[in-house]
Amino acid sequence: MSEAGRIGVWIVGARGSVALCTLAGAAALRAGLIEPTGMVSELEAFRPLRLADPGRFVFGGHEIRPGDLVTAAARFHRRTGVLHPDILRRVRAALRRADARIRPGFTLDRAAGAPKVAAGVHVGRGVSPRALVDRVRRDLRAFQGAERLERVIVVHLATTEGVASERVSRLDWRGFERRLAGRTAAGFTASLLYGWAALSERMPFINFTPSPGAEHPALAELAAAQGVPVAGNDGKTGETLVKTVLAPMFLCRNLKLRTWFGYNLLGNDDGAALADPRRCASKLKTKDAALTRMVQDPELRSKVTIDFAPSLDDWKTAWDFIHFEGFLGTRMSLQFCWQASDSALAAPLVLDLVRFTERSARLGESGPLTHLGSFFKAPLGVSEPDFHRQFARLLAYAGAGGA
Ligand SMILES: NC(=O)c1ccc[n+]([C@@H]2O[C@H](COP(=O)([O-])OP(=O)(O)OC[C@H]3O[C@@H](n4cnc5c(N)ncnc54)[C@H](O)[C@@H]3O)[C@@H](O)[C@H]2O)c1
Repeated sequence: MSEAGRIGVWIVGARGSVALCTLAGAAALRAGLIEPTGMVSELEAFRPLRLADPGRFVFGGHEIRPGDLVTAAARFHRRTGVLHPDILRRVRAALRRADARIRPGFTLDRAAGAPKVAAGVHVGRGVSPRALVDRVRRDLRAFQGAERLERVIVVHLATTEGVASERVSRLDWRGFERRLAGRTAAGFTASLLYGWAALSERMPFINFTPSPGAEHPALAELAAAQGVPVAGNDGKTGETLVKTVLAPMFLCRNLKLRTWFGYNLLGNDDGAALADPRRCASKLKTKDAALTRMVQDPELRSKVTIDFAPSLDDWKTAWDFIHFEGFLGTRMSLQFCWQASDSALAAPLVLDLVRFTERSARLGESGPLTHLGSFFKAPLGVSEPDFHRQFARLLAYAGAGGA
């Protein structure tokens, strides 16, 4: 099997918290400043796959907010305590290089009170979606050419969006193409257009967010036709990870789950975005689906709530209350409280996903990468919700030589 050549990673949402930790983390790994703790792809089982070295990834991306990565990283440390200044000092040059490759993106979101955008960012729907897609495609091609990259992987890490319109959600490939030629991007979401642009350039697309991105039927058709891998949706980093580990335990012991309420407090920009009910609907859908798919019991009462608590910043806190029934109708409960730096958990998984996806692309695998199901809350093409079974699928993939 050939070695990976020069690999580009194009991040949509390149100055966000997860992106920042991903970029700084990759540079810190390269400089030998940190261990790859939290990176699944570094487990012994995956060594035979000879995955690309994340320290050698070349980063670029689209962003809509003004600012620069170095300032954002220093601010992130002041707010959260994550990203020690010693590390920051040593990765500053790498962040500056990545910053120089970030291009203004576009946003279809003109909500009142939406944050300020950088110069050159297109805002609003009153333009042909084709023009937006073409602009993204030009940026992707320019990145690949200028950096002499063998392959570019596009990762969607932008702010959670609301859902696409009913009409756009149902379009097939041809319908999507026709609608792109329209005069307005109304009904589309930005993630759909970024994803379409990436796949049109035959670049693998990873959707780490709950936004519509990779799950749209037209994008799935396009990925298959182009022979390009896709992966998504919504990284499984915290509360849902614990849920998909714990729920099978109750099921294996034939204990009856009666109530499962999860209360999430988020204080970062993602939390601020999710305070908007339209965006929150996307997130709640992926978070609750994992449990209801596992426990197919109409009597189970389950609910996920997300509230914005700015003082917590990136230190996401989730409290889950589980009420269950055992022998003799005895009712018992379990509660857990998860407190973690959301971005420090997500960043190594982003690097993992790029490494696995890059290898798939190199081997000519296409369509949804179902062996990556354990990374996502709502994995594409995977109906198995149990974390351990999803992970066993990844181990089996590696054991079979990754084919
Ligand atoms: N942190 C986690 O553990 C985790 C887990 C699963 C999913 N996610 C998802 O990952 C995404 C990023 O999370 P974050 O904490 O980094 O959020 P963030 O708000 O810090 O970063 C998002 C970035 O995207 C940019 N952006 C918004 N719209 C854009 C557009 N149209 N084009 C280009 N850039 C755009 C924003 O300006 C911002 O810099 C969110 O959707 C979140 O739900 C995060």
